[in-house]
Amino acid sequence: MSRYLDLTNSLLPDQGCWLITGVAGFIGSNLLEHLLKLNQRVIGLDNFATGHQSNLDEVHSLVSPAQWSRFTFIKGDIRNPEDCARACEGVDYVLHQAALGSVPRSLNDPITTNAANITGFLNMLVAARDAGVKSFTYAASSSTYGDHPALPKVEDNIGKPLSPYAVTKYVNELYADVFARSYGFKAIGLRYFNVFGKRQDPNGAYAAVIPKWTAAMVRGEDVFINGDGDTSRDFCFIENAVQANLLAATAEDSAKNDVYNVAVGDRTTLNDLFAALKSALAENGVVYDKKPVYRDFRPGDVRHSQADIGKAASKLGYAPEYRIREGIAKAMPWYLEN
Ligand SMILES: NC(=O)c1ccc[n+]([C@@H]2O[C@H](COP(=O)([O-])OP(=O)(O)OC[C@H]3O[C@@H](n4cnc5c(N)ncnc54)[C@H](O)[C@@H]3O)[C@@H](O)[C@H]2O)c1
Repeated sequence: MSRYLDLTNSLLPDQGCWLITGVAGFIGSNLLEHLLKLNQRVIGLDNFATGHQSNLDEVHSLVSPAQWSRFTFIKGDIRNPEDCARACEGVDYVLHQAALGSVPRSLNDPITTNAANITGFLNMLVAARDAGVKSFTYAASSSTYGDHPALPKVEDNIGKPLSPYAVTKYVNELYADVFARSYGFKAIGLRYFNVFGKRQDPNGAYAAVIPKWTAAMVRGEDVFINGDGDTSRDFCFIENAVQANLLAATAEDSAKNDVYNVAVGDRTTLNDLFAALKSALAENGVVYDKKPVYRDFRPGDVRHSQADIGKAASKLGYAPEYRIREGIAKAMPWYLEN
């Protein structure tokens, strides 16, 4: 049996309590849905900076009343140490997702990004350490590879950060490592590579590429490709990221105090992504007949990205179940309904 199947079969509601920060966001709300369906007790923290009450309402509608009763929501801000301390009370496993994502947002407003992603992160580390949690799993990022040219990306070989956002995510790794050395703290960083799926926000200036393009195609609007379309990414369906979080949180101590790539190991160009979304929409009866509009490369963007997932596979038992086309096929009905 795979370690993940083993784990999900063995989780019992009285085994522990999980804290998800950023619970009203895309990844956080998917973690919530999975953990509640596994009958876990969950505390969620969010300030709705980019997350939505509607994400929590949707999870509510997808779980049983008994499962929902095991969820406690705290409206609070990770920039406030007292909110972090309150959220960590009685918690065994922290899944720290709260942060301000987006490279362009960080270039436009580095101070606000720094406050949530570095000060907020440090507040959460201190609160989790003081509460004596069993493990602290946090959202790191593939942006940490920066200008390092090698493909596929292997955890130890990173370059210089290309944006303030990338700096914040790298600083998270440095702080987690120092907390491990100084306080015996047990942290695991998950370097997500372009995660996508239901409840990822298609709106706003800082939306991610898959929901943004899908929404534009559904509305019959232009789709803009930054650069020549040969820029590539390792798109990771949300179910794979959920799997990585649960495996990391419950991993052996020997796997802790480390960082892991969370992706599939594939490389898809933006031109290929455009074609894949177009054909998935056609399968759902939506025909998009416009050509993409090419414009300048975006500052701060990494040119190519593809993960080596060997370390996560061998040390965490991570085995992604969905490749990009399967993920798009699963996510498409949600985008069409929403
Ligand atoms: N989605 C991806 O492809 C991707 C890739 C790499 C890393 N990440 C990281 O994964 C995490 C989750 O990303 P997501 O895609 O779900 O984004 P999201 O914006 O949907 O979720 C982030 C959540 O954090 C909350 N939040 C922000 N600042 C907060 C604060 N000060 N206090 C409390 N809550 C706060 C937001 O309201 C939101 O609900 C982030 O740390 C992000 O940097 C995501």
